[in-house]
Amino acid sequence: MHTQVGIIGAGPAGLLLARMLHLQGISCVVLESRSRPYVESRIRAGLLEQGSVDLLTETGMADRLYKEAMVHEGIELVFDGQRHRIDITALTGRKVYIYGQQEVVKDMIVANLAAGVPILFEAQASEISGLEGERATIRYTHEGKEEVLTCDYIAGCDGFHGICRDAIPPQLMRGHDRIYPFGWLGILADAPPTKDELLYCRHDNGFALFTMRSPTVSRCYIQVPPDENAENWSDDQIWSELETRLGKHEGLTLSTGKITQKSVTAMRSYVAEPMRHGRLFLAGDSAHIVPPTGAKGMNLAISDIYVLSKALVAFYKKNDASLFETYGPTCLRRIWRAQHFSWWMTSMLHNLPDASPFDAKRQVAELYTIATSKAGQTLLAENYVGLPFEM
Ligand code: APR
Ligand code: PHB
Repeated sequence: MHTQVGIIGAGPAGLLLARMLHLQGISCVVLESRSRPYVESRIRAGLLEQGSVDLLTETGMADRLYKEAMVHEGIELVFDGQRHRIDITALTGRKVYIYGQQEVVKDMIVANLAAGVPILFEAQASEISGLEGERATIRYTHEGKEEVLTCDYIAGCDGFHGICRDAIPPQLMRGHDRIYPFGWLGILADAPPTKDELLYCRHDNGFALFTMRSPTVSRCYIQVPPDENAENWSDDQIWSELETRLGKHEGLTLSTGKITQKSVTAMRSYVAEPMRHGRLFLAGDSAHIVPPTGAKGMNLAISDIYVLSKALVAFYKKNDASLFETYGPTCLRRIWRAQHFSWWMTSMLHNLPDASPFDAKRQVAELYTIATSKAGQTLLAENYVGLPFEM
């Protein structure tokens, strides 16, 4: 089998690229190691920047999103017994959308399959080669058979644990890594959201986040040790800890209900440089991951693909390969800004295990600096709502 662009991975990155290439008449094949039900039910983050929603709209994949997403104009920072609202829309003119990543993935799969774009599920790529030669090759297994896909270019959209990043020669690759000494215990619960906006809480016991998936489903997170087993937490303990970390506030009561899912996520920042080697382009989690505090993971995957699709379209439509050279550097400027924002939000709101009383006081002072200054709020809001795709 031959195609112009071989895409490995059917997450937001791979599926958006497939759609954008198809709309420009460029052929591609998507290889995904998991089954369709698996990728459509994998629970991930759920916040889209305005720019991400605009791109989903332009590519005809936002119809259901407009019906079901919850549109938010602000967030609250909760610390030192107080609540401070950041009016994102007043400060930036833009909004954010709450819509689960698996819903985005479902919509992208439907749009691609309806247009006849081949997505092969349970097709595991095992090796890529020819990156420096005339054509690239992907070896994969599908329905028990070893297969080969040849292509002009490979999009490595295979997530953090994929095979593509390791295909870049180690002497050319630099990985920038930071592992945080804590994780998040995340729950889904049949409970209306505690508040109609997200609550980011700093407490001496650790961070807590109150978010949502629908008017009847809450998504909440609490900071826990990195190797915590979710099963160590009973439902009552989770609600009690969420209540403690939220604190007592007039007119705000914790909304509780049946917990339907719980799991622990590790927190890590990682950036791979370069993002391109010969005929291979890395995009999304295969090239970088962020701690979830800033809600940037899915949005960065989307902005990478915006830049990559432009480069591929310039090549196939105008025979202009110059954007291949600038793909990585263009993405990396935004990725590092999002890395900084995610690290900043994380360090401002979490308890470091070895924090001294000085650190705790300084952290609260930093939150006051941001929450009580229009300049501080604007800095947070501009980054939260999403920086331009190209900078
Ligand atoms: N062959 C085929 N598919 C593979 C292989 C392989 N060898 N290795 C991994 N995959 C698939 C995974 O099963 C997954 O579906 O690649 C896909 C990668 O998708 P994501 O992990 O969703 O990554 P990406 O599209 O970059 O989206 C980033 O996902 O993890 C979140 O927080 C992150 O929101 C961000 C988003
Ligand atoms: C989520 O809804 O899962 C979510 C929202 C905002 C974050 C992190 C996660 O900062």
